[in-house]
Amino acid sequence: MECILVTGGAGFIGSNFVHEVRARQDDVHIVVLDKLTYAGNLENLTFNGSRMERVSFVEGDIADAELLRRLFLKFKPSRIVNFAAESHVDRSIHDPFAFVHTNVVGTCVLLHQSLKYWEELSFEQKDSFRFLHVSTDEVYGSLSLSDPPFTETTPFQPNSPYSASKAASDHLVRAWFHTYGLPVLTTNCSNNYGPYHFPEKLIPLMIVNALAGKPLPIYGDGQQIRDWLYVEDHCRAILRVLEAGKCGETYNIGGWNEKTNLEIVHTICELLDEMRPRADGISYKSQITHVKDRPGHDRRYAIDARKIERELGWRPQETFETGIRKTVRWYLDNPGWVERVQNGSYREWINKQYSPAA
Ligand code: NAD
Ligand code: TYD
Repeated sequence: MECILVTGGAGFIGSNFVHEVRARQDDVHIVVLDKLTYAGNLENLTFNGSRMERVSFVEGDIADAELLRRLFLKFKPSRIVNFAAESHVDRSIHDPFAFVHTNVVGTCVLLHQSLKYWEELSFEQKDSFRFLHVSTDEVYGSLSLSDPPFTETTPFQPNSPYSASKAASDHLVRAWFHTYGLPVLTTNCSNNYGPYHFPEKLIPLMIVNALAGKPLPIYGDGQQIRDWLYVEDHCRAILRVLEAGKCGETYNIGGWNEKTNLEIVHTICELLDEMRPRADGISYKSQITHVKDRPGHDRRYAIDARKIERELGWRPQETFETGIRKTVRWYLDNPGWVERVQNGSYREWINKQYSPAA
């Protein structure tokens, strides 16, 4: 059976990717390697409340070369998809070193151990092996309202410790292709939203705070623009790039959905007003508060996703309207998940559900 190593697979996008692969392919064994930082939640890797078959979990750090060596020997993956990262801009402002450790050093160690493993494979195995690095549009910096969207050739101009560390990792991936010939692919995606999104990021935080009767904090004037993509569309794009992407290339992935933060929060409030109205009949919009802006706050991100459409035939299936409705529904239907994340008990899941696989 083919084995895919998914690093960071207990986080938001990684766990959605694991669900997507399992739903599509029944002949694949998925090994998740995850350090289980605050953002890693093994409950994300359950199906109908139970541990998933054909998924093994290993707790560990992508910067641990010895662990990687053992994992490669034991599971012999034919594909590696690297989601493992520190991913929150606000946290990167407070603790940039964790971002350098995982996003830069970790990616470098993972690349190098992957290279050593790949060099020992047979000719056919070498040929079909892929290392896909999942990255972000934030590496390109910030756009003004009149700028065209980011393309794959837009120069990198990262502005936050998070985006700078991701930009560094993208450069390392490129170098391991050009210098050593490792068959790599890189994807740079816009802001994702959907199930299992940790409620520190804009969309899940607003849903969870609204339902809890708490303030909805908008940084600055709320006119910053992001391009939003439903997470399942991102996962389908990654699978398509793994399948047909050209080694050494990067692919931008986006939803053609530019919205201001204020528009996003208004939409969430309107959906909640319809799906779970407040007892007093007042709109959730009354909970919106403007707070101090984020330092170095990027004004606008926008993705030109024509390359992946032209070369690989991928387009998003969800519109923002369908995706955000599904997302709000998921949070309403999963209060237990939200509660366990908020009270910290999600971190005990490993003892209940998993025993070490390596
Ligand atoms: P996340 O923070 O929800 O999950 C990250 C996962 O990585 C967690 O499970 C965490 O425990 C794990 N991890 C952290 N450090 C690790 C280490 N040293 N070794 C092993 N595992 C480690 O992040 P996400 O939103 O799912 O993002 C996944 C990837 O996609 C990241 O690389 C991010 O840069 C990229 N990305 C995210 C978005 C977005 O909107 N969320 C958009 C574009 C790209
Ligand atoms: P976020 O979800 O942190 O993603 P990113 O910074 O990677 O784009 O934030 C999305 C936008 O929402 C960003 O412009 C910052 C803003 N924001 C708020 O206004 N209030 C909040 O509480 C958060 C978490 C984000």
